[in-house]
Amino acid sequence: MDKKIALLQDKIKQASLGGGQARIESQHKKGKLTARERIHFLMDEGSFEEIGMMVTHRSTDFGMEREKYLGDGVVTGYGTINGRLTYVFSQDFTVFGGSLSETHAEKICKLMDMAMKNGAPLIGLNDSGGARIQEGVVSLGGYADIFYQNVQASGVIPQLSAIMGPCAGGAVYSPAITDFILMVENTSYMFVTGPNVVKTVTHEEVTSEELGGATTHATKSGVTHFACANEIEAINHLKKLLSYMPQNCEEMAEPTPYETRDESRTSLNTFLPQNASQPYDIREIMTTVADENTFLEVHKDFAENIVVGFARLAGRSIGIVANQPAYLAGVLDSNSSTKAARFVRFCDCFNIPLLVFEDVPGFLPGTDQEWNGIITNGAKLLYAFSEATVPRITVITRKAYGGAYDVMNSKHIGADMNYAWPSAEIAVMGAKGAAEIIFKKEITAAENPEEKWLEKEKLYSDIFANPYRASERGFVDEVIEPSQTRIKLIKAFKMLENKVVNHPRKKHGNIPL
Ligand code: HXC
Repeated sequence: MDKKIALLQDKIKQASLGGGQARIESQHKKGKLTARERIHFLMDEGSFEEIGMMVTHRSTDFGMEREKYLGDGVVTGYGTINGRLTYVFSQDFTVFGGSLSETHAEKICKLMDMAMKNGAPLIGLNDSGGARIQEGVVSLGGYADIFYQNVQASGVIPQLSAIMGPCAGGAVYSPAITDFILMVENTSYMFVTGPNVVKTVTHEEVTSEELGGATTHATKSGVTHFACANEIEAINHLKKLLSYMPQNCEEMAEPTPYETRDESRTSLNTFLPQNASQPYDIREIMTTVADENTFLEVHKDFAENIVVGFARLAGRSIGIVANQPAYLAGVLDSNSSTKAARFVRFCDCFNIPLLVFEDVPGFLPGTDQEWNGIITNGAKLLYAFSEATVPRITVITRKAYGGAYDVMNSKHIGADMNYAWPSAEIAVMGAKGAAEIIFKKEITAAENPEEKWLEKEKLYSDIFANPYRASERGFVDEVIEPSQTRIKLIKAFKMLENKVVNHPRKKHGNIPL
Protein backbone atom coordinates (compact mmCIF):
# COMPACT_ATOMS: atom_id res chain seq x y z
CA MET A 1 0.00 0.00 0.00
CA ASP A 2 2.82 2.41 0.84
CA LYS A 3 4.18 2.11 -2.68
CA LYS A 4 0.74 2.61 -4.15
CA ILE A 5 0.14 5.71 -2.05
CA ALA A 6 3.57 7.04 -3.04
CA LEU A 7 2.63 6.54 -6.71
CA LEU A 8 -0.64 8.43 -6.14
CA GLN A 9 1.19 11.27 -4.42
CA ASP A 10 3.70 11.40 -7.23
CA LYS A 11 0.93 11.69 -9.78
CA ILE A 12 -0.82 14.43 -7.78
CA LYS A 13 2.46 16.35 -7.63
CA GLN A 14 2.96 15.87 -11.36
CA ALA A 15 -0.55 17.12 -12.10
CA SER A 16 -0.13 20.16 -9.89
CA LEU A 17 2.87 21.23 -11.97
CA GLY A 18 0.80 21.36 -15.16
CA GLY A 19 3.19 21.90 -18.08
CA GLY A 20 6.21 22.14 -15.76
CA GLN A 21 8.09 24.66 -13.66
CA ALA A 22 9.65 26.52 -16.59
CA ARG A 23 6.26 27.23 -18.14
CA ILE A 24 4.86 28.27 -14.73
CA GLU A 25 7.66 30.82 -14.46
CA SER A 26 6.96 32.06 -17.96
CA GLN A 27 3.28 32.48 -16.96
CA HIS A 28 4.30 34.50 -13.90
CA LYS A 29 6.64 36.65 -16.00
CA LYS A 30 3.67 37.68 -18.11
CA GLY A 31 2.00 38.95 -14.92
CA LYS A 32 -0.44 36.02 -14.90
CA LEU A 33 -1.35 33.55 -12.17
CA THR A 34 -1.50 29.82 -12.89
CA ALA A 35 -4.78 27.96 -13.20
CA ARG A 36 -4.43 26.54 -9.69
CA GLU A 37 -3.39 29.83 -8.12
CA ARG A 38 -6.52 31.44 -9.52
CA ILE A 39 -8.68 28.74 -7.99
CA HIS A 40 -6.84 29.17 -4.70
CA PHE A 41 -7.76 32.87 -4.57
CA LEU A 42 -11.31 32.29 -5.79
CA MET A 43 -12.58 29.50 -3.57
CA ASP A 44 -12.95 29.40 0.21
CA GLU A 45 -9.76 28.10 1.75
CA GLY A 46 -9.47 24.33 1.61
CA SER A 47 -12.88 23.91 -0.02
CA PHE A 48 -11.79 23.03 -3.56
CA GLU A 49 -12.16 19.41 -4.67
CA GLU A 50 -10.66 18.56 -8.02
CA ILE A 51 -12.37 16.27 -10.52
CA GLY A 52 -10.51 14.57 -13.36
CA MET A 53 -6.98 15.38 -12.30
CA MET A 54 -5.55 12.34 -14.10
CA VAL A 55 -7.26 12.87 -17.45
CA THR A 56 -4.91 12.93 -20.44
CA HIS A 57 -5.51 13.51 -24.13
CA ARG A 58 -6.05 10.68 -26.62
CA SER A 59 -4.27 12.25 -29.55
CA THR A 60 -1.64 10.27 -31.46
CA ASP A 61 -0.84 12.50 -34.44
CA PHE A 62 2.36 14.59 -34.57
CA GLY A 63 4.03 12.51 -31.83
CA MET A 64 1.42 13.69 -29.32
CA GLU A 65 1.30 10.27 -27.64
CA ARG A 66 4.75 11.08 -26.23
CA GLU A 67 3.68 14.42 -24.71
CA LYS A 68 0.97 14.08 -22.12
CA TYR A 69 0.22 16.13 -19.01
CA LEU A 70 -2.11 15.05 -16.22
CA GLY A 71 -5.27 17.13 -16.31
CA ASP A 72 -4.80 18.01 -20.00
CA GLY A 73 -4.80 21.78 -19.67
CA VAL A 74 -7.82 22.40 -17.50
CA VAL A 75 -8.39 22.13 -13.75
CA THR A 76 -12.03 21.32 -12.96
CA GLY A 77 -13.85 20.87 -9.68
CA TYR A 78 -16.13 22.27 -7.04
CA GLY A 79 -15.88 24.07 -3.74
CA THR A 80 -17.46 26.99 -1.97
CA ILE A 81 -17.34 30.75 -2.40
CA ASN A 82 -18.47 32.53 0.76
CA GLY A 83 -19.95 29.21 1.83
CA ARG A 84 -21.93 28.59 -1.37
CA LEU A 85 -21.37 25.57 -3.60
CA THR A 86 -19.77 26.68 -6.90
CA TYR A 87 -18.28 24.74 -9.80
CA VAL A 88 -15.18 26.07 -11.51
CA PHE A 89 -12.97 25.24 -14.46
CA SER A 90 -9.64 26.95 -14.88
CA GLN A 91 -7.66 26.57 -18.10
CA ASP A 92 -3.97 25.89 -17.65
CA PHE A 93 -1.92 27.84 -20.18
CA THR A 94 1.21 25.89 -19.23
CA VAL A 95 -0.22 22.79 -20.94
CA PHE A 96 -0.31 23.24 -24.72
CA GLY A 97 -1.24 26.89 -24.16
CA GLY A 98 -4.47 25.88 -22.40
CA SER A 99 -5.70 24.73 -25.80
CA LEU A 100 -8.91 22.75 -25.96
CA SER A 101 -8.61 19.07 -26.75
CA GLU A 102 -11.36 16.47 -26.89
CA THR A 103 -10.72 15.42 -23.27
CA HIS A 104 -10.28 19.01 -22.05
CA ALA A 105 -13.76 19.71 -23.47
CA GLU A 106 -15.17 16.55 -21.91
CA LYS A 107 -13.95 17.67 -18.48
CA ILE A 108 -15.68 21.03 -18.85
CA CYS A 109 -18.91 19.46 -20.11
CA LYS A 110 -18.96 16.95 -17.26
CA LEU A 111 -18.62 19.82 -14.79
CA MET A 112 -21.40 21.81 -16.45
CA ASP A 113 -23.63 18.78 -16.30
CA MET A 114 -22.98 18.44 -12.56
CA ALA A 115 -23.53 22.15 -11.95
CA MET A 116 -26.91 21.94 -13.67
CA LYS A 117 -28.03 18.77 -11.91
CA ASN A 118 -27.06 20.18 -8.53
CA GLY A 119 -28.27 23.70 -9.20
CA ALA A 120 -25.11 25.71 -8.49
CA PRO A 121 -23.25 28.47 -10.37
CA LEU A 122 -20.46 27.74 -12.82
CA ILE A 123 -17.38 29.92 -13.16
CA GLY A 124 -14.99 29.58 -16.10
CA LEU A 125 -11.48 31.00 -15.82
CA ASN A 126 -10.37 31.20 -19.45
CA ASP A 127 -6.75 31.26 -20.58
CA SER A 128 -6.39 29.35 -23.81
CA GLY A 129 -4.81 29.36 -27.24
CA GLY A 130 -8.08 28.00 -28.64
CA ALA A 131 -8.66 24.72 -30.42
CA ARG A 132 -5.85 22.14 -29.87
CA ILE A 133 -4.38 22.42 -33.34
CA GLN A 134 -2.96 18.86 -33.32
CA GLU A 135 -6.46 17.42 -32.79
CA GLY A 136 -8.26 19.16 -35.65
CA VAL A 137 -11.99 18.65 -35.90
CA VAL A 138 -12.20 16.66 -32.65
CA SER A 139 -11.32 19.85 -30.83
CA LEU A 140 -13.87 21.87 -32.77
CA GLY A 141 -16.47 19.28 -31.77
CA GLY A 142 -15.41 19.77 -28.16
CA TYR A 143 -16.08 23.49 -28.44
CA ALA A 144 -19.50 22.88 -29.92
CA ASP A 145 -20.30 20.49 -27.05
CA ILE A 146 -19.45 23.27 -24.59
CA PHE A 147 -21.51 25.88 -26.48
CA TYR A 148 -24.48 23.53 -26.45
CA GLN A 149 -24.14 22.93 -22.71
CA ASN A 150 -23.81 26.70 -22.12
CA VAL A 151 -27.14 27.19 -23.84
CA GLN A 152 -28.81 24.37 -21.88
CA ALA A 153 -27.53 25.90 -18.64
CA SER A 154 -28.55 29.45 -19.60
CA GLY A 155 -31.25 30.66 -17.24
CA VAL A 156 -30.89 27.54 -15.07
CA ILE A 157 -27.70 28.38 -13.18
CA PRO A 158 -25.63 31.58 -13.22
CA GLN A 159 -22.63 31.22 -15.55
CA LEU A 160 -19.73 33.64 -15.16
CA SER A 161 -16.63 33.89 -17.37
CA ALA A 162 -13.36 35.55 -16.48
CA ILE A 163 -10.94 36.01 -19.38
CA MET A 164 -7.40 35.90 -18.06
CA GLY A 165 -5.38 35.30 -21.19
CA PRO A 166 -6.02 34.71 -24.87
CA CYS A 167 -9.53 33.80 -25.98
CA ALA A 168 -9.69 33.76 -29.73
CA GLY A 169 -11.53 32.27 -32.67
CA GLY A 170 -14.80 30.51 -32.03
CA ALA A 171 -13.68 30.02 -28.43
CA VAL A 172 -15.12 33.43 -27.63
CA TYR A 173 -18.63 32.10 -28.04
CA SER A 174 -18.73 30.11 -24.83
CA PRO A 175 -18.08 33.19 -22.66
CA ALA A 176 -20.42 35.19 -24.88
CA ILE A 177 -23.30 32.84 -24.07
CA THR A 178 -22.64 33.03 -20.33
CA ASP A 179 -24.26 35.69 -18.16
CA PHE A 180 -21.29 37.90 -17.35
CA ILE A 181 -17.80 38.38 -18.73
CA LEU A 182 -14.87 39.90 -16.84
CA MET A 183 -11.59 40.72 -18.56
CA VAL A 184 -8.17 41.63 -17.20
CA GLU A 185 -6.48 44.71 -18.62
CA ASN A 186 -3.31 44.14 -20.67
CA THR A 187 -3.17 40.35 -20.24
CA SER A 188 -6.39 39.16 -21.81
CA TYR A 189 -8.00 39.56 -25.18
CA MET A 190 -10.98 38.25 -27.11
CA PHE A 191 -11.51 38.30 -30.86
CA VAL A 192 -12.95 36.09 -33.58
CA THR A 193 -10.01 36.78 -35.89
CA GLY A 194 -6.68 38.13 -34.66
CA PRO A 195 -4.60 41.09 -35.87
CA ASN A 196 -2.80 39.06 -38.57
CA VAL A 197 -6.00 37.92 -40.24
CA VAL A 198 -7.42 41.42 -39.90
CA LYS A 199 -4.38 42.83 -41.67
CA THR A 200 -4.63 40.32 -44.52
CA VAL A 201 -8.34 40.77 -45.09
CA THR A 202 -9.02 44.43 -44.34
CA HIS A 203 -5.47 45.88 -44.41
CA GLU A 204 -6.02 47.39 -40.96
CA GLU A 205 -3.03 47.53 -38.62
CA VAL A 206 -4.16 46.88 -35.08
CA THR A 207 -2.64 45.40 -31.93
CA SER A 208 -4.26 42.56 -29.97
CA GLU A 209 -5.00 44.99 -27.14
CA GLU A 210 -6.67 47.52 -29.46
CA LEU A 211 -8.60 44.86 -31.30
CA GLY A 212 -9.86 42.85 -28.36
CA GLY A 213 -8.36 43.96 -25.05
CA ALA A 214 -10.35 44.60 -21.89
CA THR A 215 -10.71 48.35 -22.45
CA THR A 216 -11.88 47.88 -26.03
CA HIS A 217 -14.56 45.41 -25.02
CA ALA A 218 -15.61 47.40 -21.95
CA THR A 219 -16.08 50.65 -23.89
CA LYS A 220 -16.57 49.98 -27.59
CA SER A 221 -18.22 46.60 -28.10
CA GLY A 222 -19.77 45.98 -24.70
CA VAL A 223 -18.63 42.33 -24.92
CA THR A 224 -17.19 42.45 -21.42
CA HIS A 225 -19.19 43.65 -18.44
CA PHE A 226 -16.10 44.42 -16.35
CA ALA A 227 -12.53 45.46 -17.15
CA CYS A 228 -10.36 44.67 -14.15
CA ALA A 229 -6.91 46.09 -13.42
CA ASN A 230 -5.45 42.69 -12.53
CA GLU A 231 -6.39 39.07 -11.88
CA ILE A 232 -6.96 39.47 -8.15
CA GLU A 233 -9.36 42.34 -8.81
CA ALA A 234 -11.18 40.15 -11.33
CA ILE A 235 -11.44 37.29 -8.82
CA ASN A 236 -12.78 39.61 -6.12
CA HIS A 237 -15.30 40.98 -8.61
CA LEU A 238 -16.46 37.44 -9.40
CA LYS A 239 -17.13 36.82 -5.71
CA LYS A 240 -18.99 40.09 -5.26
CA LEU A 241 -21.07 39.56 -8.39
CA LEU A 242 -22.04 36.09 -7.26
CA SER A 243 -23.23 37.42 -3.89
CA TYR A 244 -26.25 39.09 -5.56
CA MET A 245 -27.36 35.91 -7.31
CA PRO A 246 -29.23 32.83 -6.17
CA GLN A 247 -27.79 29.36 -6.74
CA ASN A 248 -30.22 28.64 -9.56
CA CYS A 249 -33.47 29.74 -11.19
CA GLU A 250 -35.63 28.03 -8.55
CA GLU A 251 -34.16 30.01 -5.68
CA MET A 252 -33.99 33.57 -4.43
CA ALA A 253 -30.69 35.33 -3.70
CA GLU A 254 -29.78 35.07 -0.04
CA PRO A 255 -30.64 38.34 1.78
CA THR A 256 -28.09 39.91 4.10
CA PRO A 257 -29.19 40.77 7.66
CA TYR A 258 -30.75 44.21 7.85
CA GLU A 259 -32.15 46.22 10.73
CA THR A 260 -34.72 48.93 10.06
CA ARG A 261 -33.54 52.41 10.95
CA ASP A 262 -34.44 55.89 9.71
CA GLU A 263 -35.19 55.15 6.09
CA SER A 264 -36.07 58.67 4.93
CA ARG A 265 -33.53 60.37 2.70
CA THR A 266 -34.15 64.11 3.11
CA SER A 267 -31.27 65.09 0.83
CA LEU A 268 -33.31 63.82 -2.13
CA ASN A 269 -35.91 66.59 -1.69
CA THR A 270 -33.35 69.16 -2.82
CA PHE A 271 -31.25 66.96 -5.08
CA LEU A 272 -32.59 67.75 -8.55
CA PRO A 273 -31.24 70.83 -10.38
CA GLN A 274 -33.64 73.80 -10.55
CA ASN A 275 -33.50 73.78 -14.32
CA ALA A 276 -35.09 70.63 -15.79
CA SER A 277 -32.59 70.53 -18.64
CA GLN A 278 -29.58 70.43 -16.36
CA PRO A 279 -27.84 67.09 -15.97
CA TYR A 280 -27.23 65.19 -12.74
CA ASP A 281 -25.65 61.86 -11.95
CA ILE A 282 -28.38 59.24 -11.44
CA ARG A 283 -25.89 57.10 -9.51
CA GLU A 284 -26.25 59.55 -6.62
CA ILE A 285 -29.95 58.77 -6.38
CA MET A 286 -29.30 55.03 -6.75
CA THR A 287 -26.72 54.93 -3.99
CA THR A 288 -28.77 57.15 -1.68
CA VAL A 289 -31.81 54.91 -2.03
CA ALA A 290 -30.00 51.53 -1.87
CA ASP A 291 -28.37 50.06 1.24
CA GLU A 292 -25.04 51.72 1.91
CA ASN A 293 -22.10 50.55 -0.23
CA THR A 294 -24.07 47.83 -1.95
CA PHE A 295 -24.29 49.17 -5.50
CA LEU A 296 -22.27 47.13 -8.00
CA GLU A 297 -22.35 48.69 -11.44
CA VAL A 298 -22.36 46.40 -14.47
CA HIS A 299 -21.17 47.51 -17.94
CA LYS A 300 -19.97 50.79 -16.40
CA ASP A 301 -18.13 52.19 -19.41
CA PHE A 302 -20.45 51.02 -22.17
CA ALA A 303 -23.59 52.91 -23.25
CA GLU A 304 -23.25 55.26 -20.33
CA ASN A 305 -26.62 56.85 -20.99
CA ILE A 306 -28.13 53.98 -19.06
CA VAL A 307 -26.82 52.68 -15.75
CA VAL A 308 -27.43 49.08 -14.69
CA GLY A 309 -26.24 47.17 -11.67
CA PHE A 310 -27.00 45.20 -8.56
CA ALA A 311 -27.67 46.58 -5.11
CA ARG A 312 -29.42 45.63 -1.91
CA LEU A 313 -32.55 47.16 -0.47
CA ALA A 314 -33.15 46.32 3.19
CA GLY A 315 -30.75 43.42 2.64
CA ARG A 316 -32.50 42.00 -0.43
CA SER A 317 -30.75 41.74 -3.78
CA ILE A 318 -32.24 43.91 -6.53
CA GLY A 319 -31.31 44.87 -10.09
CA ILE A 320 -31.44 48.57 -10.96
CA VAL A 321 -31.88 50.08 -14.42
CA ALA A 322 -31.67 53.86 -14.64
CA ASN A 323 -31.50 56.51 -17.33
CA GLN A 324 -28.41 58.65 -16.87
CA PRO A 325 -29.15 62.39 -17.43
CA ALA A 326 -25.42 63.10 -17.07
CA TYR A 327 -24.68 61.34 -20.38
CA LEU A 328 -26.50 62.25 -23.62
CA ALA A 329 -29.30 63.56 -21.38
CA GLY A 330 -30.20 59.95 -20.59
CA VAL A 331 -31.62 59.34 -24.05
CA LEU A 332 -32.31 55.76 -25.15
CA ASP A 333 -30.31 54.51 -28.13
CA SER A 334 -29.37 51.15 -29.64
CA ASN A 335 -26.52 50.30 -27.28
CA SER A 336 -28.25 51.43 -24.10
CA SER A 337 -31.42 49.50 -25.02
CA THR A 338 -29.46 46.31 -25.68
CA LYS A 339 -27.39 46.72 -22.53
CA ALA A 340 -30.44 47.22 -20.34
CA ALA A 341 -32.45 44.45 -22.04
CA ARG A 342 -29.76 41.87 -21.34
CA PHE A 343 -29.55 42.95 -17.71
CA VAL A 344 -33.34 42.85 -17.26
CA ARG A 345 -33.45 39.34 -18.70
CA PHE A 346 -30.67 38.16 -16.40
CA CYS A 347 -32.51 39.49 -13.34
CA ASP A 348 -35.74 37.91 -14.50
CA CYS A 349 -34.04 34.52 -15.06
CA PHE A 350 -32.80 34.48 -11.49
CA ASN A 351 -35.68 36.01 -9.54
CA ILE A 352 -33.94 39.30 -8.83
CA PRO A 353 -36.56 42.10 -8.47
CA LEU A 354 -36.15 45.10 -10.75
CA LEU A 355 -36.09 48.77 -9.82
CA VAL A 356 -36.15 51.43 -12.54
CA PHE A 357 -35.26 55.11 -12.16
CA GLU A 358 -36.64 57.02 -15.09
CA ASP A 359 -35.54 60.36 -16.48
CA VAL A 360 -35.59 60.00 -20.23
CA PRO A 361 -36.19 62.57 -22.96
CA GLY A 362 -36.98 59.87 -25.55
CA PHE A 363 -35.12 57.88 -28.18
CA LEU A 364 -32.04 59.33 -29.89
CA PRO A 365 -32.93 60.66 -33.36
CA GLY A 366 -30.65 60.37 -36.41
CA THR A 367 -29.61 58.31 -39.38
CA ASP A 368 -26.94 56.52 -37.39
CA GLN A 369 -29.52 55.21 -34.94
CA GLU A 370 -32.17 54.40 -37.54
CA TRP A 371 -29.75 52.63 -39.88
CA ASN A 372 -28.24 50.69 -37.04
CA GLY A 373 -31.54 49.29 -35.96
CA ILE A 374 -32.84 51.42 -33.10
CA ILE A 375 -36.27 49.99 -33.93
CA THR A 376 -35.14 46.42 -33.29
CA ASN A 377 -32.83 47.35 -30.44
CA GLY A 378 -35.35 49.54 -28.64
CA ALA A 379 -37.84 46.70 -29.01
CA LYS A 380 -35.46 44.42 -27.12
CA LEU A 381 -35.83 46.51 -23.99
CA LEU A 382 -39.59 46.76 -24.44
CA TYR A 383 -39.74 43.00 -24.85
CA ALA A 384 -37.44 42.28 -21.92
CA PHE A 385 -39.49 44.35 -19.49
CA SER A 386 -42.79 43.05 -20.84
CA GLU A 387 -41.83 39.41 -20.36
CA ALA A 388 -40.23 39.89 -16.92
CA THR A 389 -42.27 38.35 -14.12
CA VAL A 390 -40.14 39.43 -11.15
CA PRO A 391 -41.43 42.26 -8.94
CA ARG A 392 -40.94 45.46 -10.96
CA ILE A 393 -41.09 49.02 -9.67
CA THR A 394 -40.47 52.33 -11.45
CA VAL A 395 -39.67 55.72 -9.97
CA ILE A 396 -40.01 58.65 -12.40
CA THR A 397 -37.72 61.39 -11.16
CA ARG A 398 -38.09 63.87 -13.99
CA LYS A 399 -38.77 63.30 -17.69
CA ALA A 400 -40.78 60.40 -19.05
CA TYR A 401 -41.28 61.39 -22.65
CA GLY A 402 -42.64 59.66 -25.69
CA GLY A 403 -42.05 55.99 -26.51
CA ALA A 404 -39.39 55.87 -23.83
CA TYR A 405 -42.14 56.42 -21.23
CA ASP A 406 -43.77 53.19 -22.38
CA VAL A 407 -40.52 51.25 -22.63
CA MET A 408 -39.02 52.16 -19.26
CA ASN A 409 -41.06 49.70 -17.21
CA SER A 410 -44.35 51.55 -17.49
CA LYS A 411 -47.49 50.29 -15.82
CA HIS A 412 -48.84 49.34 -19.23
CA ILE A 413 -46.14 46.72 -19.82
CA GLY A 414 -46.56 45.05 -16.48
CA ALA A 415 -44.72 47.09 -13.84
CA ASP A 416 -46.22 46.44 -10.41
CA MET A 417 -45.80 49.82 -8.76
CA ASN A 418 -45.03 53.13 -10.44
CA TYR A 419 -44.05 56.11 -8.37
CA ALA A 420 -43.36 59.65 -9.54
CA TRP A 421 -41.61 62.50 -7.83
CA PRO A 422 -43.50 65.85 -7.95
CA SER A 423 -40.83 66.95 -10.46
CA ALA A 424 -41.94 64.30 -12.98
CA GLU A 425 -42.98 65.38 -16.47
CA ILE A 426 -44.94 62.71 -18.26
CA ALA A 427 -45.73 63.74 -21.81
CA VAL A 428 -45.37 62.88 -25.47
CA MET A 429 -42.47 65.30 -25.72
CA GLY A 430 -40.96 68.40 -24.09
CA ALA A 431 -43.28 71.44 -23.84
CA LYS A 432 -41.23 73.59 -26.23
CA GLY A 433 -41.32 71.07 -29.06
CA ALA A 434 -44.94 70.18 -28.39
CA ALA A 435 -46.04 73.84 -28.51
CA GLU A 436 -44.19 74.37 -31.78
CA ILE A 437 -46.08 71.54 -33.43
CA ILE A 438 -49.61 71.92 -32.13
CA PHE A 439 -49.71 75.75 -32.12
CA LYS A 440 -47.65 76.23 -35.28
CA LYS A 441 -50.28 78.35 -37.09
CA GLU A 442 -50.97 80.57 -34.08
CA ILE A 443 -47.26 81.11 -33.43
CA THR A 444 -46.48 81.97 -37.05
CA ALA A 445 -49.44 84.37 -37.30
CA ALA A 446 -48.64 86.13 -34.01
CA GLU A 447 -47.22 89.64 -33.91
CA ASN A 448 -44.47 88.41 -31.64
CA PRO A 449 -43.99 84.70 -32.48
CA GLU A 450 -41.33 84.17 -29.81
CA GLU A 451 -43.64 85.46 -27.07
CA LYS A 452 -46.54 83.39 -28.38
CA TRP A 453 -44.38 80.33 -28.42
CA LEU A 454 -43.39 80.87 -24.76
CA GLU A 455 -47.05 81.38 -23.83
CA LYS A 456 -48.06 78.12 -25.53
CA GLU A 457 -45.08 76.28 -24.08
CA LYS A 458 -46.26 77.32 -20.62
CA LEU A 459 -49.79 76.18 -21.41
CA TYR A 460 -48.59 72.73 -22.48
CA SER A 461 -46.22 72.59 -19.57
CA ASP A 462 -48.97 73.42 -17.04
CA ILE A 463 -51.06 70.58 -18.35
CA PHE A 464 -48.47 67.86 -18.95
CA ALA A 465 -45.14 68.75 -17.31
CA ASN A 466 -46.20 67.15 -14.05
CA PRO A 467 -47.12 63.69 -12.79
CA TYR A 468 -50.81 64.40 -12.12
CA ARG A 469 -52.37 63.60 -15.51
CA ALA A 470 -50.72 60.18 -15.35
CA SER A 471 -51.75 59.63 -11.75
CA GLU A 472 -55.37 60.58 -12.51
CA ARG A 473 -55.40 57.62 -14.88
CA GLY A 474 -53.63 55.30 -12.43
CA PHE A 475 -50.59 55.08 -14.73
CA VAL A 476 -48.69 56.37 -11.72
CA ASP A 477 -49.73 54.72 -8.46
CA GLU A 478 -48.47 57.44 -6.18
CA VAL A 479 -46.72 60.78 -6.35
CA ILE A 480 -44.17 60.74 -3.57
CA GLU A 481 -41.80 63.10 -1.84
CA PRO A 482 -38.29 62.16 -2.99
CA SER A 483 -37.21 61.76 0.65
CA GLN A 484 -39.74 58.92 1.00
CA THR A 485 -38.49 56.90 -1.98
CA ARG A 486 -36.52 54.35 -0.01
CA ILE A 487 -39.34 53.75 2.48
CA LYS A 488 -41.90 53.28 -0.30
CA LEU A 489 -39.62 50.89 -2.19
CA ILE A 490 -38.82 48.73 0.82
CA LYS A 491 -42.53 48.37 1.59
CA ALA A 492 -43.55 47.74 -2.00
CA PHE A 493 -40.88 45.12 -2.69
CA LYS A 494 -41.88 43.36 0.53
CA MET A 495 -45.52 43.46 -0.57
CA LEU A 496 -44.49 41.93 -3.93
CA GLU A 497 -42.23 39.20 -2.63
CA ASN A 498 -44.66 36.38 -3.33
CA LYS A 499 -45.67 37.64 -6.77
CA VAL A 500 -46.60 34.89 -9.23
CA VAL A 501 -47.31 35.40 -12.92
CA ASN A 502 -48.27 32.59 -15.23
CA HIS A 503 -47.61 33.29 -18.89
CA PRO A 504 -49.57 31.44 -21.56
CA ARG A 505 -47.91 28.14 -22.52
CA LYS A 506 -45.41 28.43 -25.35
CA LYS A 507 -42.01 27.04 -26.36
CA HIS A 508 -40.30 30.37 -25.96
CA GLY A 509 -40.89 33.89 -27.11
CA ASN A 510 -39.17 35.45 -30.10
CA ILE A 511 -37.32 38.48 -28.73
CA PRO A 512 -36.29 40.81 -31.60
CA LEU A 513 -32.58 40.00 -31.83
C1 HXC B 1 -1.85 23.57 -29.41
C2 HXC B 1 -0.92 25.48 -28.63
C3 HXC B 1 -1.99 26.24 -29.13
C4 HXC B 1 -3.02 25.57 -29.79
C5 HXC B 1 -0.61 27.57 -28.17
N1 HXC B 1 -0.10 26.36 -28.06
N2 HXC B 1 -1.77 27.54 -28.84
N3 HXC B 1 -0.86 24.14 -28.78
N4 HXC B 1 -2.92 24.22 -29.93
N5 HXC B 1 -4.08 26.22 -30.28
C6 HXC B 1 1.14 25.99 -27.36
C7 HXC B 1 2.38 26.48 -28.06
O1 HXC B 1 2.80 25.54 -29.01
C8 HXC B 1 3.36 26.58 -26.89
O2 HXC B 1 3.81 25.28 -26.59
C9 HXC B 1 2.48 27.00 -25.75
O3 HXC B 1 1.16 26.65 -26.13
C10 HXC B 1 2.52 28.48 -25.51
O4 HXC B 1 2.34 29.16 -26.73
P1 HXC B 1 3.26 30.39 -27.15
O5 HXC B 1 2.96 30.67 -28.57
O6 HXC B 1 4.68 30.12 -26.77
O7 HXC B 1 2.69 31.52 -26.18
P2 HXC B 1 2.44 33.04 -26.47
O8 HXC B 1 3.63 33.64 -27.13
O9 HXC B 1 2.01 33.62 -25.18
O10 HXC B 1 1.26 33.10 -27.51
C11 HXC B 1 -0.01 32.60 -27.17
C12 HXC B 1 -0.92 32.52 -28.39
C13 HXC B 1 -0.23 31.71 -29.51
C14 HXC B 1 -1.19 33.94 -28.89
C15 HXC B 1 -2.21 31.90 -27.95
O11 HXC B 1 0.27 30.50 -28.95
C16 HXC B 1 -1.14 31.39 -30.63
O12 HXC B 1 -1.36 32.25 -31.49
N6 HXC B 1 -1.64 30.16 -30.67
C17 HXC B 1 -2.50 29.71 -31.72
C18 HXC B 1 -3.84 30.31 -31.60
C19 HXC B 1 -4.80 29.76 -32.61
O13 HXC B 1 -4.67 30.04 -33.80
N7 HXC B 1 -5.69 28.88 -32.12
C20 HXC B 1 -6.67 28.29 -32.94
C21 HXC B 1 -7.76 29.33 -33.04
S1 HXC B 1 -9.10 28.76 -33.95
P3 HXC B 1 5.20 25.02 -25.81
O14 HXC B 1 5.41 23.56 -25.95
O15 HXC B 1 6.22 25.84 -26.50
O16 HXC B 1 4.96 25.45 -24.42
C22 HXC B 1 -10.06 28.15 -32.80
C23 HXC B 1 -11.28 27.60 -33.35
C24 HXC B 1 -12.27 27.36 -32.29
O17 HXC B 1 -9.80 28.15 -31.67
C25 HXC B 1 -13.54 27.13 -32.99
C26 HXC B 1 -14.65 26.92 -32.06
C27 HXC B 1 -15.91 26.95 -32.84
